[in-house]
Amino acid sequence: MQHSMIMEHVTFGVCYYPEHWPETLWRSDLERMRAAGITVIRVAEFAWNLFEPREGAFTFDFFDRFLALVSTFPEIRVIFCTPTATPPAWLTEKYPEVLNADLDGRPFSHGMRRHYNYNAPVWREKSRLIASKLGEHYGTHPSIIGWQIDNELNCETDVFYAQADHDAFRVWLQQRYGTLDALNEAWGNVVWNQSYTDWSQVHLSRPAAGRAGFNPHMRLDEKRFFSDSAISYCRLQHDALREHVPADRFITTNGTFGHLDYKALVGQGVDFLCYDSYPNFGAGMIEGPSGEMADRKWSWNLANVRAFSPLFGVMEQQSGANGWVMRMAARAPLPGQLRLWTFQSLAHGADFISWFRWRTATFGTEIYWHGILDYDNRDNRKLREATRTIADAAKLPGLAGLQVQAKVAVLRDYDNLWDGEDDLWHGPMRRAGEAAWFEALQTTHTPYDIVYLDDGTLAADLARYDLVVYPHATILSPARAAVLEAYVADGGRLLLGARSGYKDSRGQCPMEPAPGPIAGLCGATVLEGSMVTPADTPSHAEWDGVRLDTPLWNDVIDPDPGAGTRVLAWYAAGRFEGTPALTERAVGAGHVHLFGAGFAADAARALLAGFGAASPYRALLELPAGCELAVRGQGADRLFFVLNYGEETTVILKKLFTDRLTEEKKIGETRVDRFGVRVLSLNAKEGMV
Ligand code: GLA
Repeated sequence: MQHSMIMEHVTFGVCYYPEHWPETLWRSDLERMRAAGITVIRVAEFAWNLFEPREGAFTFDFFDRFLALVSTFPEIRVIFCTPTATPPAWLTEKYPEVLNADLDGRPFSHGMRRHYNYNAPVWREKSRLIASKLGEHYGTHPSIIGWQIDNELNCETDVFYAQADHDAFRVWLQQRYGTLDALNEAWGNVVWNQSYTDWSQVHLSRPAAGRAGFNPHMRLDEKRFFSDSAISYCRLQHDALREHVPADRFITTNGTFGHLDYKALVGQGVDFLCYDSYPNFGAGMIEGPSGEMADRKWSWNLANVRAFSPLFGVMEQQSGANGWVMRMAARAPLPGQLRLWTFQSLAHGADFISWFRWRTATFGTEIYWHGILDYDNRDNRKLREATRTIADAAKLPGLAGLQVQAKVAVLRDYDNLWDGEDDLWHGPMRRAGEAAWFEALQTTHTPYDIVYLDDGTLAADLARYDLVVYPHATILSPARAAVLEAYVADGGRLLLGARSGYKDSRGQCPMEPAPGPIAGLCGATVLEGSMVTPADTPSHAEWDGVRLDTPLWNDVIDPDPGAGTRVLAWYAAGRFEGTPALTERAVGAGHVHLFGAGFAADAARALLAGFGAASPYRALLELPAGCELAVRGQGADRLFFVLNYGEETTVILKKLFTDRLTEEKKIGETRVDRFGVRVLSLNAKEGMV
């Protein structure tokens, strides 16, 4: 990977806050980190006042002293951050226009984090300046291997309604549409007399009589604008740093949050992305209808990061119980889970892991967000587990850079993610469908990727997948439909779910049969459809005697026999009993399927099996549902990660494997400890299988 001094081999770090601790503790902290094998520390993301305590009065003494000490530890390197996540009080007091505001227009007060907006000109200039000053002063520091911009863009909030945002939105719209007539047309403003006659009348969302009735086309553009604002802000800092930071040092940022197109961000504003992984949130905050898979829900999130950055880092990996001063949201990791979750990140493509945080804060909002060490600062089981994890990863010298393997992909795109947010059916149906596919892929041990379609996506980007599932692409442009068509023609298998293709990229519904631009490929149209509510007779379909649940929405599909479209499954109950629910059309070397409903896990499992895409490694190993299988690398380099999220269990190895963490040869029934991890490889000959 480019820009990857830390990624040439798997590397471990911690988030460290020298400003939270007496200077007398720094040396022993660094010594203890070194003893554990920790070789990277991330610093300074909230430390603006230490660089500019008063406007324009720059000083670098504090971090100069800290870095001078770090320099005496040649093994330890630093990721330095720009401190813009927490603007200083002197700044927000003097320039209140930098504060973000809520939809009602109430500005945020100073405090907490991320209280700024991306568009106030003075804020952009102050941010550029602090990034530039830090780059100038520390850009070539020998201990610094890379930079993090800000901290978790769009985390605390992902909506922005300050005056500066309203103003910038107008400029953004002028660039996008040119004229007010074009804007009025795109937003359908003739409805309810919303047509604008002057640009000054145009705003982001504001309080209205009933928030359920916002103009949907405006709302979609609003989110695109939020995303572009964040990207442009990140890029501003990136460019200011790059003027001083040599090309062999990376620039990244951390986290994945709402209303930010990370695919566009990577490459424009950062060299690669880092994720912040707190898996115990999964156990505490269950999404989706089934509540299943909460033990490993973060695997989905890691696959999601990989969609933006095929290889990535984890800047914050959970190491302790999580909570802020007003809550304890997530329980403490049980013995083994710190190691398991670290390997979960490695298995999904991370080459750098930095635990949050070295030591738990003894004051401030995050006193309950535990790190490796606790308040008492004694060596503890978490430090022992982290040390063991680092030693284990050292046994995998070839791991960094190995690509995660997957033959199934779930497609997403930002238009649909954002357009589905305001309603009570599309967004929830997408989330339920993705949860169903996640569960089906997990329990059948079918490794998968998430792929984001954008205007740059090519059929070649999909060619490596045998099956591509695009659950509910309500918005589908002709250009994206053409990419999917080429993927199918070249031998791919595409599965589309309910409500596909009935909106254009403005979010309007063209007068043509759904699934719109992809109807020709499907060889079918949709005659009508309806939500399926709890008041309805539960609906399901049957495919060769196998039951497929058809929840949430049912489309009635009208196959075109002239196009060679076959009906695979019919609704066997429900409102549209007796009508087609699943079709297939062979096109070129591939197949396309239209499914009229939302997805449930059992149906997803049946579809995976029916399409021959389930359990691709079953000839090599058999795992219980409690274990996840992830694979990195190909041929003789290939590593199989078996991650056990539950109690001690047994896997069956059908070939002779080497356990790379113990160097034992293994075949047949093999134990995996509670929260245990096995990293296995085949011998060179079988590795080619
Ligand atoms: C986020 C932030 C960190 C820290 C942790 C724990 O991931 O990036 O600064 O606040 O959460 O709260």
